[in-house]
Amino acid sequence: MKISVRKSKKTTRNEVDFDNLEFGVHFSDHMYFVDYENGKWGTPHIEPYGPMKMYPALSTLHYGQAVFEGLKAFRGIDGKIRLFRPDKNHERHNMSCERMCIPAISYELFLEGIKKLVELDHAWVPEKRGCSLYIRPFVFATDNFLGVRVSYTYRFMIIASPVGAYYKEGLNPVKLITSGEFVRAVKGGLGAVKTPANYAASLYPGEVAKKKGFTQVLWLDGIENRYIEEVGTMNIMFVIDGTLVTPPLEGSILPGVTRNSVISLAKHWGLPLEERKITIDEVMSEAKKERLQEVFGTGTAAVISPVGWIQHNDNTITIHNGEIGPVSQRLYDEITGMQYGEKADPFGWCLVL
Ligand code: COI
Repeated sequence: MKISVRKSKKTTRNEVDFDNLEFGVHFSDHMYFVDYENGKWGTPHIEPYGPMKMYPALSTLHYGQAVFEGLKAFRGIDGKIRLFRPDKNHERHNMSCERMCIPAISYELFLEGIKKLVELDHAWVPEKRGCSLYIRPFVFATDNFLGVRVSYTYRFMIIASPVGAYYKEGLNPVKLITSGEFVRAVKGGLGAVKTPANYAASLYPGEVAKKKGFTQVLWLDGIENRYIEEVGTMNIMFVIDGTLVTPPLEGSILPGVTRNSVISLAKHWGLPLEERKITIDEVMSEAKKERLQEVFGTGTAAVISPVGWIQHNDNTITIHNGEIGPVSQRLYDEITGMQYGEKADPFGWCLVL
């Protein structure tokens, strides 16, 4: 596949403190893009990272017809760069595109773009354990038109950002709070696709949660406000009396790649696992009975993120003394071990570049 490349004359890499990376602040020197018009995707380009010219009536800005993904490139202990499960991201990208009436993209356009970008910007893949180059593929409607309809034209892009831990807590447990007032998504809506609207819906409730001293909202279902869904930036898992329990994918929860990886690992290890509906009342009551052993989130950005506290209706539970538990730690070690080339990869999840 031919990619037209215009290389950056300078690098901003030296301006970045790679010992103190935050999430999503810095961007590598190049960006990849390909435009869709007249019913087909055109020639892919790589250009220096920078501002783009867009019309004010760009339909995405008004009606949100867009999809994004997130995956990471890791520098292994052998010096090789690995991508983690890019095929799963591509699969979900096209699933999201279908729901958002956006044309699908081939695996070749998706993967070759990532590979070329990482090859050009390989110096941006951090050396430090726990850090990586976060890769953000995304697609958005580009019609210069204000009527509400499906756009005829699109731009697919990939940008890359060297990152550390997503939460300032790092691997220390985060604090979650439920919301009796707001919902993220309902079945039949957009909750299962990776589209900006879901994140927009979470911003205001997220600010309310932050003001109360919590990291994020633990979303409950939009109808009965009882069933646990996800956290918005990650899926959620519970260890109850030795069994790993996670809400099922029923149309309002994002099908996370890390969620899927954890489920595969649990099956592989013979860990009792239940993908089933779970209410917040069950979680609170299991905590009271001291049967709730661990809670953690899973996500590309969040990796395995322990949850130390959950507040629901003025009751707060502390999980595993506010410390990471053994199942969360084992999953974190196993997944990151594969990503950094330290552990065997029995599922063939890592693509070595
Ligand atoms: C990811 O984990 O890749 C996400 O997209 C979550 C968040 C940064 C939006």
